[in-house]
Amino acid sequence: MKTTAPLMTNQIDIDQLTPLEAAVELARLAEEIARHDRAYYQSDAPSISDADYDALRQRNAAIEAAFPELVRADSPTRRVGATPAEGFGKIRHARPMLSLDNAFTDADVEEFAGRVRRFLGLADGETVALVAEPKIDGLSISLRYEKGRFVQGATRGDGTEGEDVTANLRTINDLPRQLSGPVPDVLEVRGEVYMLRADFLAMNEARKTQGDKTLFANPRNAAAGSLRQLDPDITASRPLSLFCYALGEVSEPIADTHWDFLARLRSWGFKVNDRVRLCGGVDDALAFYHAIGEERALLPYDIDGVVYKVNRFDWQERLGQVSRSPRWATAHKFPAEQVQTLLHEIAISVGRTGALTPYAILEPVTVGGVVVSRATLHNEDEIVRKDIRAGDTVIIQRAGDVIPQIVAVVEAKRPAEARPFVPPEICPVCGSHAVKPEGEAIRRCTGGLTCDAQRVERLIHFASRGAFDIEGLGEKNVEFLFRTGRIRGPADIFRLEGQEEQSLLPLRTQPGWGAKSTQKLFEAIRARRVISLERFILALGIRQVGEATARLLARHYLSLDAWRDAMLAAAQNREGDAWLQLTAIDQIGPAVATDIADFFLEEHNRQAVADLARQLERIEDFVPTAKAASPVSGKTVVFTGTLTGMSRDEAKARAQELGAKVAGSVSAKTDYVVAGQDAGSKLTKARDLGVAILSEEEWLSLIGR
Ligand code: IVH
Repeated sequence: MKTTAPLMTNQIDIDQLTPLEAAVELARLAEEIARHDRAYYQSDAPSISDADYDALRQRNAAIEAAFPELVRADSPTRRVGATPAEGFGKIRHARPMLSLDNAFTDADVEEFAGRVRRFLGLADGETVALVAEPKIDGLSISLRYEKGRFVQGATRGDGTEGEDVTANLRTINDLPRQLSGPVPDVLEVRGEVYMLRADFLAMNEARKTQGDKTLFANPRNAAAGSLRQLDPDITASRPLSLFCYALGEVSEPIADTHWDFLARLRSWGFKVNDRVRLCGGVDDALAFYHAIGEERALLPYDIDGVVYKVNRFDWQERLGQVSRSPRWATAHKFPAEQVQTLLHEIAISVGRTGALTPYAILEPVTVGGVVVSRATLHNEDEIVRKDIRAGDTVIIQRAGDVIPQIVAVVEAKRPAEARPFVPPEICPVCGSHAVKPEGEAIRRCTGGLTCDAQRVERLIHFASRGAFDIEGLGEKNVEFLFRTGRIRGPADIFRLEGQEEQSLLPLRTQPGWGAKSTQKLFEAIRARRVISLERFILALGIRQVGEATARLLARHYLSLDAWRDAMLAAAQNREGDAWLQLTAIDQIGPAVATDIADFFLEEHNRQAVADLARQLERIEDFVPTAKAASPVSGKTVVFTGTLTGMSRDEAKARAQELGAKVAGSVSAKTDYVVAGQDAGSKLTKARDLGVAILSEEEWLSLIGR
């Protein structure tokens, strides 16, 4: 083997890297390692020595451990030994593949059960049966059967669209290719591909003896790496297993309960975990969790918690989902592994909204199978509360898989000279004042868009998937375009193509920017000159305005002009109508409203919005997607009093699904007030304002229930 690539010249000590430099280097490493992997796996022609290759991977892993928030979707650590994803076709899931909300304590689980009861409006005596299942630590997949025959399988991907791994799945012994007995014409089953611990150890052992350079870090990585191989023969040689546990699309009802559904899965020939248990209620479910927690190390496969699912399917359906997780299930995670290490220094990073986030630089230590050398410290109050000081020995853990956290300080080991943390009053990136308003947890840089950290982070957010979703404009490229002065603000992205034509050093002549990829980028940008209002709002990066809030705003104000005018009016008078209307939107409280208003008070933000809008061809007004034709879509509804047929939460959720706007208070803009029993002042106000008042029954018949 010979080395062809000059390796890591000018390598900066990881402790000295700024987040920006780290992001750039991670991007470079991902690309470089992928290139060597391709040479090795696809062309069977290694382009680099083993030692150099290992050094690249180690450097990548160390930077990722130091900057866990920068771990890339295409990170080499997530793709151990596997070929890159670009070779797989894409499959749109007929029903989205949801993820699960997490519970960490018994109390969290009780709360989950309480939420379910409240949502369903259950009487005290009524029990909610739950199915408890081991949470298998593998990767989830969707399997499609037509007339009982396995026709297609996909990874979860982003939940909406996954990778076509049909050929690879066919190589797994546990997967039935033909189902036995009568089966619905269309049946989509979801499950987890995993690797038995013994198989994993044997496989790694064999790789070691064969002199293979990539050992897998754990069974989960091994399963993921093995399934996502472009060559199904490689997958076939890997010992993969499969459990099935959920339903996707189905052409006819197959059971009334999850428990019966699992029994049907078994009868058709699917592998269902034999530890699943039907529990009469929360106490039963928690007992299962604690018992299996004790046995965990003895199980033949890794589990990272227990999943609880409401047994009745009709209840599951009524409960529905919030953003990307079902209300009818939750994952009760096992506590994370904890270890002690030395905290060398408390450093500060600056994010998209100017938030100064302290983080700890640690003596590297292995926790949960990964070497960690940094940990988030969240905010100053947290540091003060836990009295964390440079020089302390601290207990750390990795929460929910990735981000390392400091749990506590070991005070007995504190050196005499350790001094309490003093927060910075100056932004470490731009030197502007950094202030922390009374009562707030977060210190912020006042530099706004003059602070480069904020500009780049905002641009990255702007082009990201949920926002403008500009393909080819990921972190690395945004950073490059920013650093070379081509883009300073969002609107510049849309001027890029024109400027490039006149540039003396056009992009396509820069390393890593071929004429073809540049052309593709311009096309991707052009395609986004038409954008939906909700994406536009989200892309602005206003503090606390995430996907759900952006959608609420779009749904209420419908067009950019209406929204912008209203926000400006709300910003200028925090007691006026516009403000009251904004804060009356269900789920938008005064704190979010204040952030939106503050954004519009800044002249440079208003200019940026106007500048961007000018660059676009069209900002599409919000069209309620759920049921555009629903009789209540676009209407503003207020619920008051006690409803008998369903809880208030369920009523609101249903109304929103049908495209209605749910408000918390009555105004002249309210279309309907739905009055339950003992309705009070809102009903009176509705009468005064002449707003249409509906009884619960009238409401149900209006929405066709
Ligand atoms: S149910 C809508 N059941 O956990 C419900 N998931 O954190 C879909 N998982 O993406 C998931 N064991 O990869 C379910 N018995 C089980 C599971 C399980 C493992 C994984 C699955 C899912 C993730 C959510």
